[in-house]
Amino acid sequence: KQMLAWQRTSFHFQPKKNWMNDPNGPLFYKGWYHLFYQYNPEAAVWGNIVWGHAVSRDLIHWQHLPVAMVADQWYDINGVWTGSATILPDGKLVMLYTGSTNESVQVQNLAYPADPSDPLLRKWVKYEGNPVLVPPPGIAAKDFRDPTTAWTTPQGKWRITIGSKVNKTGISLVYDTIDFKNFELLDGVLHGVPGTGMWECVDFYPVSKVVENGLDTSDNGPAVKHVLKSSLDDDRNDYYALGTYDAVAGKWVPDNPTIDVGIGLRYDYGNFYASKTFYDQEKKRRVLWAWITESDSEAADICKGWASLQPIPRTIKYDKKTGSNIITWPVAEVENLRFNSKEFDKVEVKPGNVVPLEVGTATQLDIMAEFEVDPKVLEKLEGSNATYECRSSGGSAERGALGPFGLLVLTDKGLSEQTPIYFYIAKDAAGNFTTFFCNDLTRSSEATDVRKLIYGSTVPVLQGEKLSLRTLVDHSIVESFAQNGRTAITSRVYPTKAIYEDAKLYLFNNATDVTITASVKIWQIHSANIQSS
Ligand code: FRU
Repeated sequence: KQMLAWQRTSFHFQPKKNWMNDPNGPLFYKGWYHLFYQYNPEAAVWGNIVWGHAVSRDLIHWQHLPVAMVADQWYDINGVWTGSATILPDGKLVMLYTGSTNESVQVQNLAYPADPSDPLLRKWVKYEGNPVLVPPPGIAAKDFRDPTTAWTTPQGKWRITIGSKVNKTGISLVYDTIDFKNFELLDGVLHGVPGTGMWECVDFYPVSKVVENGLDTSDNGPAVKHVLKSSLDDDRNDYYALGTYDAVAGKWVPDNPTIDVGIGLRYDYGNFYASKTFYDQEKKRRVLWAWITESDSEAADICKGWASLQPIPRTIKYDKKTGSNIITWPVAEVENLRFNSKEFDKVEVKPGNVVPLEVGTATQLDIMAEFEVDPKVLEKLEGSNATYECRSSGGSAERGALGPFGLLVLTDKGLSEQTPIYFYIAKDAAGNFTTFFCNDLTRSSEATDVRKLIYGSTVPVLQGEKLSLRTLVDHSIVESFAQNGRTAITSRVYPTKAIYEDAKLYLFNNATDVTITASVKIWQIHSANIQSS
């Protein structure tokens, strides 16, 4: 019981109780950030889906509000499913969402605020002409869901895209509309990728190649790239690719077809699904939300009375340095929760060693670390381990010449429960280096009803860059970022011993051939203020 109570987070968004899944219709309106989400008001498992609702001034402190939309019409009686908001030029809002009908057909519906002068947007009206879209010919009744935010076309219309599949090819359909009530299906698709299956929660937006700020969904031009993201129902990960959007044809092509949507890059290599971005017109940035599932058993969820989290919302930018990926990074506002900073400068960690970092209570932390590896050792080393992969490796216990090394979070004194977050450098016979960023959960908990995977991927490291990582720890969630957000890994951790004051933090180096030098700055993190309505 005490263990289960400890798992509840202190600065991440989660409902007071019961089940949450996808973020829905995030937006900024009259001074407030709004987050709607897929919610089961009755239990800590999926079902009875309605739209939960909360508001915030800063994306960190929240006020829960009453449910925004319930399943009360034939066209959404089996669930008020995922949808997105569009802010019109006159400041008015429209919401498009998927309804699961009385016959479990997936249709798209329109809703709008009952009182636009209410900054809290408490009441929503469903359009009397719903549904506004039904599955078109050739699309199965249960493969048509999750409309995006609309953007404008060169003809001055609005355009949306909706994920689907044909056989095993994941696709995204494109519709134009003037009034969000009548829609015209474009020929062909925005994009499709064979073998990727059903595309859920498609997201589509521009990123700037030159400026630092985010772009409104309708922005376009020569200095813009477009990101297409799909949540693959078959493998439960959020994949994206950078590409070029042809606004006239309503089609998008990836920059590099070998890393197309669903077969290449992910927002996050851990537990991160059904994400959605919005353009924050107040702070001129694009912000990412997502559904972080539990990795424990359904029985444990029922026992603790809740399931799922949102990440700390992340800003998204194009990575100008590599030109081939985006970077995701926790919104700056989370730094306002920092206190009690501790610095450890140039700590040497010899091969096979573990060094404690005394920080007091280590269950709510923001950790920034930089690692240096002697370049002479890198140079001298013969090629090896070029076929390394985090997921299929032996994890943090498998020793290589140049890794793994990094942090142990949520670790007890005896190191019997530990959650390592680490780098692993591989060198091939031709002398090329590849850096991996991993998170090994195999020893994270002595509980037996927990999924304990090894997560991770490669991370681009450019000439002259130190290895850097940032990790946010909040009880049962750990979010880690390498090289300022080029690669991210979110994990759920359920220690049984490394809890309360027994949760500790360490540096470790399991490389055989190299001593690492680590500089670490650590803050404790205050709990966010989360109020009931
Ligand atoms: C993704 C998803 C969506 C759907 C919603 C239902 O997690 O399956 O495709 O709209 O959740 O809750």
